[in-house]
Amino acid sequence: MDDIALAVIGGTGLYKLAALDEVEALEGMTPYGAASGPVRVGRIAGQRVAFMARHGEGHSLPPHQVNYRANLWRLKQVGARQVLAINAVGGITERFGPRVLALPDQLIDYTWGRISTFCEEPGTEVLHVDFGDPYTPALRARVLAAAARSGTALVDGGCYGATQGPRLETRAEIARLRRDGCDLVGMTGMPEAGLARELGLDYACLAVVANWAAGCGDDAEITLAEVLANVEAASAGLPALLEALLG
Ligand code: HPA
Repeated sequence: MDDIALAVIGGTGLYKLAALDEVEALEGMTPYGAASGPVRVGRIAGQRVAFMARHGEGHSLPPHQVNYRANLWRLKQVGARQVLAINAVGGITERFGPRVLALPDQLIDYTWGRISTFCEEPGTEVLHVDFGDPYTPALRARVLAAAARSGTALVDGGCYGATQGPRLETRAEIARLRRDGCDLVGMTGMPEAGLARELGLDYACLAVVANWAAGCGDDAEITLAEVLANVEAASAGLPALLEALLG
């Protein structure tokens, strides 16, 4: 079997990859328990691509209950080495309004109580992985080049603040994130990125801005309908971006 060129983890509003041809579903268990669902492997631009829905295909898992370790382990187990994570986010600063696609280059982790390392079990080697650049620069560069080639508007850079959820944030919490330097806020960016680094996987986050975060932009009430409509609209450019990335 030839290698998997890319694994895509789909977030809220992205439960399958329409661009995947000849899809087969791989079921399997990991030492860390069950992943969110099957890995669906197909082809884009002739290359093998794996897809997993982070919240489960029926969106049954809230951000704090996703088994991030199992998901990444499973993707590595089936042969993935490069992971493009798609995350619905709220926009905090001006450049990150609803429907923007962004490729953050930094993150701050505000989550708590999630298993955030593979160094939990007694006897495992303690890893202090370098995380100065939480997203793999070489993979980011490839995604940016693919966006340029395919004419997909993509904001380069930004800091992703990972909050615990599942509730949305207060205005004061978002004001604090802004002071800290966050441009985007989401609930699933960590521990996923850190675990990918521990496994030696290349990892980049494609953030899909679903709404203005609390107190930002038009400061309107955030509804699920708005989130899903904006994610769907912003994801329209994804097939062309993936074709360019893999072509
Ligand atoms: N906050 C946190 N996570 C999110 C948001 C938000 O405003 N929108 C989509 N995911």
